[in-house]
Amino acid sequence: MPGYNLIRPLLFSLNPEYAHQQTIALLQKASNKPSQVARLTKRYRNKIPKLPIELFGKKLSNPVGLAAGFDKNGVAFPALFALGFGFVEVGTVTPRAQSGNPKKRVFRLDQEESIVNRLGFNNNGLDAMLGNLSAFSSYIRPGHIGINIGKNTDTPNERAIEDYLACLDAIYEFADYAVLNLSSPNSPGLRLLQQEFEFNELVHAVMERRDELANEQSDKLLPIAVKISPDLDPEQIDVIAELSLNHRVDALIATNTTIARTAPVSHKHFTQTGGLSGKLLTDQATSVISRLASTTRGQIPIIGVGGISSAEDAWNKLLAGATALQLYTAMVFHGPTLLRQIVTGLTERARRYDERNFGSAIEQARKQF
Ligand SMILES: Cc1cc2nc3c(=O)[nH]c(=O)nc-3n(C[C@H](O)[C@H](O)[C@H](O)COP(=O)(O)O)c2cc1C
Repeated sequence: MPGYNLIRPLLFSLNPEYAHQQTIALLQKASNKPSQVARLTKRYRNKIPKLPIELFGKKLSNPVGLAAGFDKNGVAFPALFALGFGFVEVGTVTPRAQSGNPKKRVFRLDQEESIVNRLGFNNNGLDAMLGNLSAFSSYIRPGHIGINIGKNTDTPNERAIEDYLACLDAIYEFADYAVLNLSSPNSPGLRLLQQEFEFNELVHAVMERRDELANEQSDKLLPIAVKISPDLDPEQIDVIAELSLNHRVDALIATNTTIARTAPVSHKHFTQTGGLSGKLLTDQATSVISRLASTTRGQIPIIGVGGISSAEDAWNKLLAGATALQLYTAMVFHGPTLLRQIVTGLTERARRYDERNFGSAIEQARKQF
């Protein structure tokens, strides 16, 4: 596979969604050939310093994961791990396949290193995803595979629970953790599931089903995470934090893309309808993490995501209260070597506080923050 500096001008000359499809096709092809996975591992993963963290009771080689939406159908995670991610989240998958919103629906803001998308949960559905995942059943995972689940667009919110439970049942065996996506701005009404009553009902039903499934498959208690929006106001964040504590949710993922357009940006795509990600989201997502961390009093791990494109961004999210991190948009602009830069930069920063223990380094840095 040629280096990203060579590929990028070609990819950026294409329609962004088509460019993404070509990238996924390449990574899927590589994933199906162990020799190519080994080559990518040598070139990328093995060059990233080890910065172990623990998430859901297991050690990961570094805290930076791939955010949902990049590999919606679970076709390329062996190659994605080979690029060096500490963990990989696939999806969002919905019970039935759906094509999403009309095209064009992905817009790059090159100078701002940001993206607006209104894909609308385009995916091949649960059955296809399970088929894809099972094709890699002999693959030994170097980190968690999370599966991000959602409801079909034509399922009314009153029946949303059925869709989430159908997804949970289907993915239970394969996933290392599940994510309830309640925060995509491109699926009409979805974010209303973050309101107190709806959130409470949904999370209660999911946690109950998770416990039933755990009893049936006694060796596994699947961690459940909830992914939230950056557009919640502080009081809404507090309600979600308290309910998550009550229901013993295993992690909160903050955040999804934003519908807000507050920065003074003149790019013609800035006002496209959809969710904004990348650099223009960075500070907004970090504020949500800070608020969540203070209300949950550190009792629920937070996976920080939103505009991480440097070690500095990653470090700020950890200081704000994140335990682990994810990114998507910065990969589009910088390619996979970005991971090495981020993990190397985090290692250097952590060393200033504690030479050997990353967790304690972060804690000490937070005290001085
Ligand atoms: C093109 C695109 C598609 C996305 N699809 C999903 C998705 O299916 N499910 C989801 O939970 N988040 C999705 N996201 C949101 C990302 O997972 C992430 O939360 C957000 O982009 C902020 O991180 P970033 O600034 O590093 O990209 C998508 C983002 C982009 C740019």
